[in-house]
Amino acid sequence: MSSATQLTPTAAPPPAASARGRWIDHWLDTVGDLEALRSGHPMMDAVIDEIDGRMIRVGDQWLADFASCNYLGFDLDPEIIGAVPEYLERWGTHPSWSRLLGSPALYEQIETRLTELLGCDDTLVLPTITHIHASVIPVLAASGTIFLDTRAHKTIYDGCQVARSRGSAVRRFRFEDPDHLDELLRNDHDRARLVCMDGVNSMTGNAPDLQEFAAVARRHGALLYVDDAHGFGVIGERSPDERSPYGLRGNSIVRHADETYEDIVLVGGFSKAYSSLLAFIACPTEVKNLLKVAAPPYLYSGPSPVASLATVLAGFDVNERRGEDLRAELHRHTARVLATLRALDVRTPNRSELPIIEIPLRDHNRIDAVGRMLFERGVYVTLAAYPLVPKAEVGFRVQLTAINTDAEVDTLIAAVTELAERGELQLASQHPVEATG
Ligand SMILES: Cc1ncc(COP(=O)(O)O)c(C=O)c1O
Repeated sequence: MSSATQLTPTAAPPPAASARGRWIDHWLDTVGDLEALRSGHPMMDAVIDEIDGRMIRVGDQWLADFASCNYLGFDLDPEIIGAVPEYLERWGTHPSWSRLLGSPALYEQIETRLTELLGCDDTLVLPTITHIHASVIPVLAASGTIFLDTRAHKTIYDGCQVARSRGSAVRRFRFEDPDHLDELLRNDHDRARLVCMDGVNSMTGNAPDLQEFAAVARRHGALLYVDDAHGFGVIGERSPDERSPYGLRGNSIVRHADETYEDIVLVGGFSKAYSSLLAFIACPTEVKNLLKVAAPPYLYSGPSPVASLATVLAGFDVNERRGEDLRAELHRHTARVLATLRALDVRTPNRSELPIIEIPLRDHNRIDAVGRMLFERGVYVTLAAYPLVPKAEVGFRVQLTAINTDAEVDTLIAAVTELAERGELQLASQHPVEATG
């Protein structure tokens, strides 16, 4: 065959190119709905050109932002912003040692204050929860069996996949179903058992019945590993003095549920309520010391930037002095939106009054159009498209923050009311189990 023949357009593509084509087509097929939104929708993969409080500008459009997880508004808190330059002056912008090589004293200060806040034995901080799941779950699983919540966050799932590749078995229990977990644990005789689940769920906005899950895990000698990325900073210990059902101090789900840390490992992050790039694991000192030599990010990954360490420390101060006011305001905004949904008979899985409100669409094919309408009305939300969520739950997620204004919440309420009147949203009365309030 001549070289000229090989170059004609009708010639079969070289094997490498065709293999590559099949590889990417497979992926695009799986994530087609999401990719169509990503490449064509103004509310996905957007460039945010400017912010003004919780208003954001995308191109020419100003929108009220209900998509961030900055629940306490620490990202824009003048006291926290004002605290950063002094830390940069003293420590530079970035330590750039892996933690095993050396950590600025700021880390010790953070771990000491965090341990006191949570009321646990000890804490270890690493840059992100994703790092923690990928490195700590395989260590704790100890090549035994992991019992994984079917609706656990993708990063937990990925951590379990790493553990599986190191010899662990993974079994899945039904979401919010401690009886199913009990049944699986009863029928399994592995000596090392780890139960992995979310605290406050990032889609439903509800917390699991931690006491119930902890009781089941303890009954079978299993360790319970809980990711409370969304609860930390928002929910905390209960008290007659509390100003909202969130409780006090934002010290996370274990304290909120009035549980102990016995056989519970709590993971949380500062990247949501504390608006900082840092995450933690609350565990006994013995486990912390093991993780220092067994969890790869402590040995091999770069650290968080100094500005993030500074905003965590300043965040602790603000949480102590103004946290209850901020949580009360966060709850007030959330309760207003939930009351509107109730009045409109609109379905949401939120039963908790926590600031994550998912609103599913009646027809999942309408996600593009509904998103565009919200964008035009000046409302920025997270689109929950398939396959991020099952088709029956395709919709949008609203997250409130303490520093949203009443006017911004009014704009959201007007847009949701319009969607309900147009028949775009599911009816709560047709899903009575989930009805709010
Ligand atoms: C439940 C949950 N876990 C973990 C993460 C990831 O956290 P990080 O950014 O610290 O890796 C998220 C982020 O959205 C989350 O919602």
